Amino acid sequence: MRKLILSLAIVVFLSACANNSATSSRSTSAAVTAAANGRMIFLTGKDAAGFRILAQSPPLRTSCAACHRANGSGGVHLPGGAVSADLRHKALVVNQKPPYTLATLERAISMGIDNKGKPLDPVMPRWKMTPRDLHDVASYVLTLH
Ligand code: HEC
Repeated sequence: MRKLILSLAIVVFLSACANNSATSSRSTSAAVTAAANGRMIFLTGKDAAGFRILAQSPPLRTSCAACHRANGSGGVHLPGGAVSADLRHKALVVNQKPPYTLATLERAISMGIDNKGKPLDPVMPRWKMTPRDLHDVASYVLTLH
């Protein structure tokens, strides 16, 4: 009888622990900021929840940074003659007519259409992401200086 009570107590204790850890991991992922999520996608090609971003056809490289460099300065020569664009504020906003906005950046990233409505070189992947990931990575790009 004592053994039974002891093992029941252990089961109750263990399930309480399991519940606690489930609750705390949920609140951690909700606490990840848009900026941190955008930065992770840009640098690693995976979002804060660990999901790899995908593209319409398999991308030549799997993170933005792998083609545009970690600071977004671009200038990387890729197969087929394409050169990755400079994604820093001066190049995307100050020196562009019309300047990129969050909406046109999201369109460039997901559909490969630039600020003037022209298709980008096919080496730039047409990314498939959740609306939240697309918003977070485009917002992050707008912070690159
Ligand atoms: C395989 C290499 C590659 C990867 C990976 C890549 N890009 Fe690009 N990207 C390019 C190239 C090359 C261009 C220039 C296309 C052109 O000149 O038409 C470009 C252009 C762009 C442009 C348009 C800039 C402009 O001046 O019009 C944006 C915005 C952009 N990339 C954002 C991103 C983001 C954000 C990611 C990650 C989610 C990413 N890219 C991943 C290669 C890449």
